[in-house]
Amino acid sequence: MMNILVIGSGGREHALAWQCAKDDKVNNVYVAPGNAGTALEPKCQNVVLVSTDENASEHSAIIDFCQNNAIDMVIVGPEAPLVTGIVDACRDAGIQAWGPTAYCAQLEGSKTFAKEFMEQTNIPTAAYKGFTEAVAAKAYIDEKGAPIVIKADGLAAGKGVIVAETIEQAYEAIDDMLADNKFGDAGSRVVIEQFLQGEEASFICMIDGKNILPMATSQDHKRAFEGDTGPNTGGMGAYSPAPVVTQDVHEKVMTQVIQPVVDAMNNAGHPYTGFLYAGLMIDEAGDPYVIEFNCRFGDPETQPILMRLQSSMVDLVAQGLAGQLPSDAQWDSRPALGIVIASKGYPETSSKGDVIAGLPELDDNNDNAVKVFHAGTAFSDSDAIDREKEVVTNGGRVLCVTALADSISDAQQAALAVTGAISFDGAQYRRDIGHHAIARENS
Ligand code: AMP
Ligand code: GLY
Repeated sequence: MMNILVIGSGGREHALAWQCAKDDKVNNVYVAPGNAGTALEPKCQNVVLVSTDENASEHSAIIDFCQNNAIDMVIVGPEAPLVTGIVDACRDAGIQAWGPTAYCAQLEGSKTFAKEFMEQTNIPTAAYKGFTEAVAAKAYIDEKGAPIVIKADGLAAGKGVIVAETIEQAYEAIDDMLADNKFGDAGSRVVIEQFLQGEEASFICMIDGKNILPMATSQDHKRAFEGDTGPNTGGMGAYSPAPVVTQDVHEKVMTQVIQPVVDAMNNAGHPYTGFLYAGLMIDEAGDPYVIEFNCRFGDPETQPILMRLQSSMVDLVAQGLAGQLPSDAQWDSRPALGIVIASKGYPETSSKGDVIAGLPELDDNNDNAVKVFHAGTAFSDSDAIDREKEVVTNGGRVLCVTALADSISDAQQAALAVTGAISFDGAQYRRDIGHHAIARENS
């Protein structure tokens, strides 16, 4: 029997924990710190891991927990611990941890690293230039014109990107990042890049240093409001598969994007292990351009993708850790679609403590075609964790209602029906998740 530790607290981690718990070989899934959903999931329990020793490294609490609780495998959800080297630290301590090393995680941790890497390996991406000085950045904007894209260099939870429609908006983004320091250190350096046109898709793989296992394709909706308008968010909903990724596009992505990453990291002496997420723009000709790399699974893409996964996640990660990833996995042929319900003020701010009503009874029956994954949720009384306690909001993205159905429009309807029954003060969600794919279905 196995014990697993999932690091993180979002919808992605709820989906990962839920998938792991479904495997009969698994005894306990610990989630650090988790959310109300992971606390309620059968076989899962939340743990708070903080080091009591001020002088210890920030990863030491995780390592101590693994050693004291016979953890067989650690699955790291979010980018922040990957970028600071949690996988390196676990390996040094003899703990099996699934994710990229700090070196490889720079693909997400630094936009400048990622752009230079793509330039050196001829991976198709938008033309760009990096700046630390506002005057030079504005001169470059004048030269290139609008629309143009401004990105904070470091991690900014998906919010450090401004797609400027006008020169004025581009100037404002430069002033916010370089002059007013709105994004802190993450924005002390900016990347300015060419605006790419086309349809976006998320291409996520598992990589074990040499073998590549592509996950089912997906598409995320990053803008806050319907019609893909409003500010960028971490993602307001996603579905899988993404019809824009045809067989031909799939092959191009594998040969022009993913394989070059694997080869270049090997050449650099840093084999890539873990999930790799390529955020793509697919142009009219079906050619993929990399918008960004993430060194982890997507959120909310994980929720619909894992809803479709029929192979054991635990087996896949074990094979990945052993350098023996298969080249494909088993997927439910039906599409899945997830709708994020966000709290008041998201993405600028978020709200905590609003009581959530209308959550469906937790059901771990695999035939159940709708699953509510929790993200920013907690219990109103965190002392005693049982399902009688009220579940309250605890962050920006609160829930992701995910449905499997025979078509993307049916999945959208099924997810909307459950979403509409859930309520809390200030709840906001989009009713048009999947609209690109639904338009294709209808044509
Ligand atoms: P990122 O955090 O780099 O993925 O950017 C967030 C979102 O901004 C992307 O999902 C795109 O919708 C948009 N975006 C970023 N870079 C570009 C670009 N070069 N051209 C067009 N849209 C972009
Ligand atoms: N959904 C976008 C991301 O995970 O970065």
